[in-house]
Amino acid sequence: MTTTAGDPAWEAALRFYASRSVLITGGASFIGSHLVELLLKAGAHLTVLDDLSSGKLENLGSMAKDVNFVQGDVRSQDKVEAAAAGCEVMFHLANAHGGRGYIDTHPVECVNNLICDHAAFAAAAAVGCGRIIYAGSACAYPVSLQTDATATNLLEESEAGFEVQGRAFPDGEYGWAKLMGELQLRAFHRQFGIDTVACRIFTAYGPRENESHAVIALVAKALARMDPYPIWGDGSQTRNFTYVKDTVTGMALAGARLNGCQAINIGTDEHISIDELIEEIFGILSWHPSEIKREIDMPVGVMSRAASLKKCRSELDWTPSWNLHDGLKETISWYESHTDAKQLAGLDKLLLSR
Ligand SMILES: NC(=O)c1ccc[n+]([C@@H]2O[C@H](COP(=O)([O-])OP(=O)(O)OC[C@H]3O[C@@H](n4cnc5c(N)ncnc54)[C@H](O)[C@@H]3O)[C@@H](O)[C@H]2O)c1
Repeated sequence: MTTTAGDPAWEAALRFYASRSVLITGGASFIGSHLVELLLKAGAHLTVLDDLSSGKLENLGSMAKDVNFVQGDVRSQDKVEAAAAGCEVMFHLANAHGGRGYIDTHPVECVNNLICDHAAFAAAAAVGCGRIIYAGSACAYPVSLQTDATATNLLEESEAGFEVQGRAFPDGEYGWAKLMGELQLRAFHRQFGIDTVACRIFTAYGPRENESHAVIALVAKALARMDPYPIWGDGSQTRNFTYVKDTVTGMALAGARLNGCQAINIGTDEHISIDELIEEIFGILSWHPSEIKREIDMPVGVMSRAASLKKCRSELDWTPSWNLHDGLKETISWYESHTDAKQLAGLDKLLLSR
């Protein structure tokens, strides 16, 4: 039996944050804003540092009045030190990030994340912050484990790392930077004794996500009633779509419960193909295009990806609880109420932005 949202055990785990000072870099982001919501409920005192390059103040909505918001670039170590002063915990999410279309076409922005990570971790060390939780990525895993769309293997934390030759072969510049973020965490742990957790986040989706990510892009195309309906790739590639409420719960629990220097998967163990995902979307919208246009020249990334949950179960006593249908219903309902026809008309550009 694992802990789920609302359980007394879950509430107890999150009490770790009650009255603690916590800095969230990138806290105005899609994922960051859900983390803010959860940690405010847990009673944390929050500072958010974000340059609003892809994050938005409106993501924080009415929560903005309950956090100390600092607009600034995380690459400025001085700025982060000032924001982190007195913080016991840092969640570091501020990175250039987008969907496959963005990360494949912005390698320079992706390697720039090495600087974001270093400045954030150095600031944590300088102000004596003893715990860093890093928004790592499934892209840190070797691509060689993810080449077959029919594969059912679940990626285990030990399959990506620095101790064993052959376990560092991540997914593009973005994935290399995320794995090197983990190497930086290891260095800060070894030299300064900071507890560090790399949360390897797998394909999050939900309210406040933008169109550069597969789920929102496919929802937007369906709402625009595109027919033929375009998808990137042949539709057989799989991902473990993880509802964002589960993503931030996993991050918060990992931050509360793990010590030393560790990595942990935050995602589901279900391989869901793009073909399965779009049928679920069409079902919710009660609409179906007459033709699916499979754009095989567009960026698709690896062919299969899902997370082993062994460590989540054993170390966090938790696994994600949202199913795809319910998560998609929430997401679609949010997107419908926040999007107008003008936005859908500019969709082609949005698919490659962040
Ligand atoms: N969405 C996913 O499925 C996923 C998967 C793996 C990892 N992640 C990681 O989770 C984190 C949040 O991702 P997201 O999906 O919410 O994307 P996002 O683009 O909404 O988040 C990035 C945030 O960082 C801020 N930012 C970027 N560069 C900055 C800088 N130099 N200084 C200050 N702020 C800066 C942005 O304004 C934004 O708020 C990122 O680190 C991302 O790499 C996300």
